[in-house]
Amino acid sequence: MLKLLVKAPAKINLSLDVLYKRTDGYHELEMVMTTVDLADRLELELLNDDRIVIHSQTRFVPDDDRNLAYKAAKLLKDRFNIKSGASITIEKNIPVAAGLAGGSSDAAAVLRGMNKLWDLRLTLDELAELGAEIGSDVSFCVYGGTALAKGRGEIITPLPPPPNCWVVLAKPAIGVSTAEVYEHLNLNEVIHPNTKAMVDAIYQGDYRGICANLSNVLESVTFKYFPKVKHLKDDMKRFGADAVLMSGSGPTVFALVQHDSRMQRLYNGLRGYCHQVYAVRLLGKRNEFS
Ligand code: C5P
Repeated sequence: MLKLLVKAPAKINLSLDVLYKRTDGYHELEMVMTTVDLADRLELELLNDDRIVIHSQTRFVPDDDRNLAYKAAKLLKDRFNIKSGASITIEKNIPVAAGLAGGSSDAAAVLRGMNKLWDLRLTLDELAELGAEIGSDVSFCVYGGTALAKGRGEIITPLPPPPNCWVVLAKPAIGVSTAEVYEHLNLNEVIHPNTKAMVDAIYQGDYRGICANLSNVLESVTFKYFPKVKHLKDDMKRFGADAVLMSGSGPTVFALVQHDSRMQRLYNGLRGYCHQVYAVRLLGKRNEFS
């Protein structure tokens, strides 16, 4: 096999809790994440020479080792002493620096895809372990689906898919630095999510329970520095969402909605005044072994 197409779906956080700051500078987390049907598409191809080449039509997607997809290919190549190179063409559909793990998901897709093209025969668990060396969200993205993530984000316990619903994503025209949001987090001020209640609601397929327990401690920081994001969340509630939350460190805010007509009302209400708006379905299921 010389060429492969791989999908890299975005994730949202149904809950995000920070337990404490660790001595290594990272924060100890407890997050519930799930993938949604908004995906980048990557075309991976073997090269006869030694290079790793990134192609993308999108601005803000670096073509060097600042790109997590590049890092993923380089990590596999160096670790397993691979002689051939790789060409990676990224069709970017997930907004960049948005709290949706777009870059991490691209890296995970490269790990899964190049595992096949280079015939490395690594398991998903092994790929997830390698993913943690690239970024905190990459391990989750290797598996996809729905999971509880602990540690830096790399300790993954799979969960069943939540009941299906619409997810309306709204990304204001600002970029947020995850590192800065963590830096400004005051753990004495936050209201911690009830992660157990969220996990129980998912196990029970309890849509209302999931809506009632959406919670993200990073909202307090992003809302303080970008009040626009808080106003967007308030508007999405007024437009008829069942529940609304910021994803990751933001600035993307997502709404859960079950009824088609409400989804349409919300989508129409947001378009025109918010920079990027998407209405997609949850993709609760895990990636197949690739
Ligand atoms: O791991 P990743 O490079 O994606 O994380 C980006 C930044 O977010 C880190 O450099 C760190 O500042 C912050 N972070 C953190 N605790 C985590 C994950 C990320 O402080 N568990």
